[in-house]
Amino acid sequence: MKTDTAQAVYLKDYCAPDYLISTVHLDVKLAPAATHVTSTLTIQPNGNIGKNYRPLILDGEEIKLDSLCLNGEVLGSDDYIVDENSLIIATVPQEEFTVEIKTTCNPAANTALSGLYRSSKTYCTQCEAEGFRRITYFPDRPDVLAVFTVRIEGSTVETPVLLSNGNPVESGKLNANRHFAIWHDPHPKPSYLFALVAGNLGVVSDHFTTQSGGDIELKIFVEPGNEDRCDYAMGALKRSMKWDEERFAREYDLDIFMIVAVSDFNMGAMENKGLNIFNDKFILARPDTATDADYANIESIIAHEYFHNWTGNRITCRDWFQLCLKEGLTVFRDQEFSADMRSRTVERIADVKRLRAQQFPEDAGPLAHPVQPESYIEINNFYTATVYEKGAELVRMLLTLLGPDTFRKAMDLYFLRHDGEAATVEDFIRVMEDAGGIDLTQFRIWYQQAGTPELTVNGRYDRHRRTYTLAVSQHCAPSPGQLRKHPYHIPLRIGLVDKCGEDMKLELDGKPAGDDLVLNIREHEHRFCFTNVAHRPYASILRSFSAPVKLTTNATRSDLLFLMQHDSDLFNRWECAQTYATRLLTDATVSGELNEVKSAVFGQALGKLFDDETLEPAFIAQMLTLPGESDLAREMINNVDPSAIYRSRLGLRKNIAANLKENFRHILKTVRLSGAYSPDAIDAGKRSLRNSALGFLAVLEDTSTLDLLKQQYMNADNMTDVMAVLSILTQTDLPLRDELLDDFYSRWKHDHLVVDKWLMLNALAPFEATVGHVAGLMNHPAFSLKNLNKVRALIGTFASANPVAFNHPSGAGYDLVSDTILKLDKINPQVAARLTGVFKSWRALESGRRDKSQLALQRLVDSENLSRDTLEIAVKSLD
Ligand code: PHE
Ligand code: ZN
Repeated sequence: MKTDTAQAVYLKDYCAPDYLISTVHLDVKLAPAATHVTSTLTIQPNGNIGKNYRPLILDGEEIKLDSLCLNGEVLGSDDYIVDENSLIIATVPQEEFTVEIKTTCNPAANTALSGLYRSSKTYCTQCEAEGFRRITYFPDRPDVLAVFTVRIEGSTVETPVLLSNGNPVESGKLNANRHFAIWHDPHPKPSYLFALVAGNLGVVSDHFTTQSGGDIELKIFVEPGNEDRCDYAMGALKRSMKWDEERFAREYDLDIFMIVAVSDFNMGAMENKGLNIFNDKFILARPDTATDADYANIESIIAHEYFHNWTGNRITCRDWFQLCLKEGLTVFRDQEFSADMRSRTVERIADVKRLRAQQFPEDAGPLAHPVQPESYIEINNFYTATVYEKGAELVRMLLTLLGPDTFRKAMDLYFLRHDGEAATVEDFIRVMEDAGGIDLTQFRIWYQQAGTPELTVNGRYDRHRRTYTLAVSQHCAPSPGQLRKHPYHIPLRIGLVDKCGEDMKLELDGKPAGDDLVLNIREHEHRFCFTNVAHRPYASILRSFSAPVKLTTNATRSDLLFLMQHDSDLFNRWECAQTYATRLLTDATVSGELNEVKSAVFGQALGKLFDDETLEPAFIAQMLTLPGESDLAREMINNVDPSAIYRSRLGLRKNIAANLKENFRHILKTVRLSGAYSPDAIDAGKRSLRNSALGFLAVLEDTSTLDLLKQQYMNADNMTDVMAVLSILTQTDLPLRDELLDDFYSRWKHDHLVVDKWLMLNALAPFEATVGHVAGLMNHPAFSLKNLNKVRALIGTFASANPVAFNHPSGAGYDLVSDTILKLDKINPQVAARLTGVFKSWRALESGRRDKSQLALQRLVDSENLSRDTLEIAVKSLD
């Protein structure tokens, strides 16, 4: 195997660092092709060295060493070794000493966007996970925490704004149109949290007063001209700061908090201490340019990065195997924040949908790995849905097991015990055990075993004994390197619903057990006997999705229809609708025929929801959303034909549209928005219900609906309603589709974020001809392989959200994507590797497509000079 040449890193090999760094003084003289960096380090041997003398080994990559001094004396070339990845000084003092390193790097040539690079004319950095070594030689590992002082020098014309972490100390003019700024960050931090930004940037300022009365300056920096798109982000930041004080008693700890938005970024955003850097699509929003979904994303990503200040920065990770310690926990925190800002149920549905769409396929395929992996080849490949989304679910289960009050006490203890440390997952679990007084030995398996457990729950009512028995069993299929699995500790939240739709008072083996119960599943098989049950109940299982499992129950269709209307757990009402539709659609896909009667019954059940005034519009809109094509493909397990799935799903949409047409028209007449556009959850929910109704009507393709679509496009005062029309039309081949898409492009071609939306719309058309169209668009002036947001919008969307076209039976879709990966790999390996992940479910396809996708992957593996990043993903995918 080719990856044999790349070294894997193992968790079991962790060793504490040989040397610690107390202070770093960085002096950075900016110039596009040759930025000079002087780094002065104060270094101490870590603990007692004894006889085993250890050299000082610093990481470095793509930088040129200009000079090196130890305790003020210049070192000659015999005193050290430099190679491609390190700088080694064989002999260093065994008490505190200083090293001064001068290096040069080339930000203009840095297309990998790791280290110091340029986005347009702005200098910026990305150091997580291992980018700091591309700026200077350093022990680039998260368990080396140092206090940083940074002096930046640059042109007053090109870089009037000079930023780094911490608080501003001093700034001033120099000769020849140059100036400098000095920043000091008093909080010791690992190098991956270092950041520097310099450029000609506009700024929006505000203030936040902390609980204890501290006044914090808030600043958002953007390209000049975008200042009018920062209001929402600023509001979201202030809400995040307040929420973390109220919910977790966490206050901000510097005088200033800054966010910079750039248009070239490998990921969504980065939590550098005091200086978050964002992909600008997660900052910039104005009603006419951003959709409700964009606003929701901005709010949650701002919160996520801000929350990292405590979970990630104040308490950081000992090594990259602990990544979920900061990411899972911080995703959990941002989910809770969004739930509090918006609707808890709708947020939970969105989170579970994301988990199923992104994490379940990962866990079921060749790239499956534990939330805490045991080894990696390229750490950048482990910023995955498993670490983030499943990681968040594990924290949520701990909340369920401990209960809200004890969980909060445990979090307090976590902050108290580990503040200032580079901690481990084990530390976190131990805190939960200590504060919760429970034994989590078995729970730890969630962190160590890959794969999604399958939970089977069968209920049986005995009318003579008036008992209801739940037989629960768990099983987890093998995953790469893990053939046999231990049983998990699964918190299973359940309720029994009576025939009036009320939760029954539960009695377990004769003992009262409340009405909403968490069962601890620990064995392969369990049996729970509820006593004194007056009649056959409707079992509401896995309420609010209390564990990240695949659930199978013996609920009948009529049970599902009943619970869809009556379950007090709104999440499960949605889940029952999904289950009903999934059964209907998988049957239809296998048999080639949709059961019209069962479809009509389902439609009627949905229709009844419109009369329930207690339900939020956003929730009803979720109820109306059928499981996606990929959700269905996952249920089919193998021999998947994406086109057949698409046809059955469209068939059901048509059936529902025909049956509920009057209801949908009624929604459009009665669900109204008044006043100016507001992105708040209530208005957004109304828009989503209206647009969902419009989408159903559109599949009937009658002229009155086409008029409605056109009118909405012409008259909308916000991007949500415009995008809704275009997304609906993208699903059709009506002439109106091209007419409006052309109009949209000519209106917005000057706006890079809206152009991304146009590319996405083009990539989404569910027709086989889309392959050729997308290939053609790669030569369109709107596209550039060098801008990752463009690549993600066009190729990423095509490959991950358009199963019909990507899985073109000829294999043309696979070839288009693998060609793009090869080109992109030369520019940006991290992003090329991420794109390679779209092939992860290839084995589940029917044989024709399976062979062709395998060939496309093989072509990647066989190509010359593939990056380690992409090679790891491609090789593992084929295994
Ligand atoms: N740590 C970032 C986050 O989760 C993600 C990230 C990882 C960004 C690596 C860039 C590089 O918020
Ligand atoms: Zn994060």
